Amino acid sequence: MAFKEDFLFGVATAAYQIEGAVNEDGRGKTIWDTFCETPGKVARGESGAIANDHYHRYLEDVAIMKELGVKAYRFSMAWSRMFPQGDSQREERGFDFYNRLIDALLDAGIEPIATLYHWDLPQALQDQGGWASRQTPLRLSEYAAAAAEAFGDRVQKFAPINEPWVMSWLGHGLGYHAPGIADYATAIAASHHTMLGHNLSFKAIKAVRPNALVGPVLSQSNADVDDITDPKQMRAAAVMDMNQNKFWMDAFFAGKYPELAYELYGERLTKLIQPGDLDRQPHDFVGINYYFNQRIGHEVAADHPNRVRVVDELAGLSMISTSIGNVTDMGWPITPYGLEDLLVRWTREYPETLPPIYITENGAAYDDEPGEDGRIRDQRRIDYLNDHLMAVQSAIARGADVRGYMQWSMMDNFEWSVGFAKRFGIVHVDYATQKRTIKDSGFWYRDTIRCNGSNLVERIVDFA
Ligand code: NOJ
Repeated sequence: MAFKEDFLFGVATAAYQIEGAVNEDGRGKTIWDTFCETPGKVARGESGAIANDHYHRYLEDVAIMKELGVKAYRFSMAWSRMFPQGDSQREERGFDFYNRLIDALLDAGIEPIATLYHWDLPQALQDQGGWASRQTPLRLSEYAAAAAEAFGDRVQKFAPINEPWVMSWLGHGLGYHAPGIADYATAIAASHHTMLGHNLSFKAIKAVRPNALVGPVLSQSNADVDDITDPKQMRAAAVMDMNQNKFWMDAFFAGKYPELAYELYGERLTKLIQPGDLDRQPHDFVGINYYFNQRIGHEVAADHPNRVRVVDELAGLSMISTSIGNVTDMGWPITPYGLEDLLVRWTREYPETLPPIYITENGAAYDDEPGEDGRIRDQRRIDYLNDHLMAVQSAIARGADVRGYMQWSMMDNFEWSVGFAKRFGIVHVDYATQKRTIKDSGFWYRDTIRCNGSNLVERIVDFA
């Protein structure tokens, strides 16, 4: 089985994870700069200050993508390079950088796909309330309009916000990510305001560039319930699903929040909603970032890093949702069937309104280093990618309209609070020298793209 000829195979990255050059060309400070400077927040005190130095090496990186034969590159633009204070004051050198990058991609025959906000909020906006405030969605939509104006002649697909669940709940509910707030009411406000920020940006981009394609990019997990006859476990699964998936899926594709959101969030949610906020927009695509399923009902230690505390606490249960079994370096289980489930599920749950789907991220962290011959044998990543692409093929065969797949990540990079040790790249980066080396998985991906996935193999795997 192969994908259709026009299936969009790509790779993905994000600005703060690769660019470095944080003090150059007038870039304004962001919440991730601040977070990384705060002792104890990021492993080994690492930061994106230099990262992959992509700001200076973008031409080399584009050349590598060309060698890999990718058809698309999903990257993010750093808001604070173009609007250092998050207000209307422009910094043209920031616009110039993304103009150069986009032109280099187009010269290489690679479609640029722009994420406008991949978590790097200008610090000045955080100081005025950040995502807890209704001002931030408004500012985002103004920046989105400016980006559409500047780049929309060459960029067709825009994703205003990357992974609203992660930034709302890990950033504001648990404090694991910038801005490091641990307060559920703030996380609920951020949830609503990211939804609103997306919708306002959708309208702002379309007003400037009616032909632009705009869609949300959502991190998603399905639930693996140990005992489906246990009502408590089923309740925990429903809470997880609402908190991570349905809150945004219903908002974007049904124009409402799920009942369970009102039940669990109560006034913390209702007081935020103003008339028109939830008006459904005709989104052009939905981007799904998929890594793993959540496991419900398997008891692990209370301080297990992958314990989904939010679900336990919101549901008022002592149910623990986490990963066990065969895991990647992130401690995440390998559950490709979960991707197929999600794709088929949304196709059935929103039959009238679901737009074409892109897998906007999928990948695995493994720290394989170069062997003596310099070659990086990352067979586990090849297996992971193979199995997830097979899951996409199965979902398509079952009716899901999936148009493309962006592997995360084009190269090893700064993995947020866990730093550089978690390597997701199909290209290895030696941070001491900035040397890039294509891993075995990179060559495998190149071959996969060349034959449109007809090289994928069914593997017999025990996912338990
Ligand atoms: C999702 C995020 O969008 C990306 O920034 C991150 O590096 C990957 N997942 C892996 O955790």
